Amino acid sequence: MLNIAVLVSGGGTNLQHLIDFERAGELANGKIKLVLASNPNAFALERARSHHIATEVLRRTEYEDLASYDHALVTVLQNHQIDLVVLAGFMTIFGQEVCDAYPNRIVNVHPSLIPSFCGKGFYGLHVHEAALQRGVKVTGATVHFVNNVCDGGPIILQKAVSVHEDDTPETLQKRVMEEAEWHLLPQAVSLICDEKVQVVDGITHIQE
Ligand code: GAR
Repeated sequence: MLNIAVLVSGGGTNLQHLIDFERAGELANGKIKLVLASNPNAFALERARSHHIATEVLRRTEYEDLASYDHALVTVLQNHQIDLVVLAGFMTIFGQEVCDAYPNRIVNVHPSLIPSFCGKGFYGLHVHEAALQRGVKVTGATVHFVNNVCDGGPIILQKAVSVHEDDTPETLQKRVMEEAEWHLLPQAVSLICDEKVQVVDGITHIQE
């Protein structure tokens, strides 16, 4: 059984789908133990509290540098005996100490088909704005392991979503969430908890 921490910064719809998945009994080998937010006003914290999940808030601005923030983050995760870290709309960049503490044990959901529209500056609505600007006809979502390259870790699952002629960044974001993110993230977390994901030379292999 893996103890899971979900790291959030905003609305937390991906967190909600993970909670629902667990409450439906579909996460046999994982348990959401902690929701950690980068700001105290994240609505995701309300979602956690209403399901009696422990919460913590860690603001980057309260730490002098990246190293001390990283150390605080690892300490909180270890205090809660966390085995698997899920980034679900977590907008704060962390550094080496966190990556080293959880090798192939941090996953992120990103709202595009990596390696398109990813890396520094590509987060939230900006990703969809860039996709529309480029005129792609298909976009999607990716769940990947996190390493020290921004959006560069091994890809676990991806799902394509069509772009419509009259899409705005907002309508595209909604469709990518509904059709891809909300299903992919629980599925990937469940596969990891079931020990069905292996990483060999930077590539994941998923056991059927
Ligand atoms: C999601 O679309 C997620 O993919 C994105 O932020 C949104 C959070 O929504 N994450 C990134 O852009 C990370 N680079 P939520 O708070 O409703 O789950």
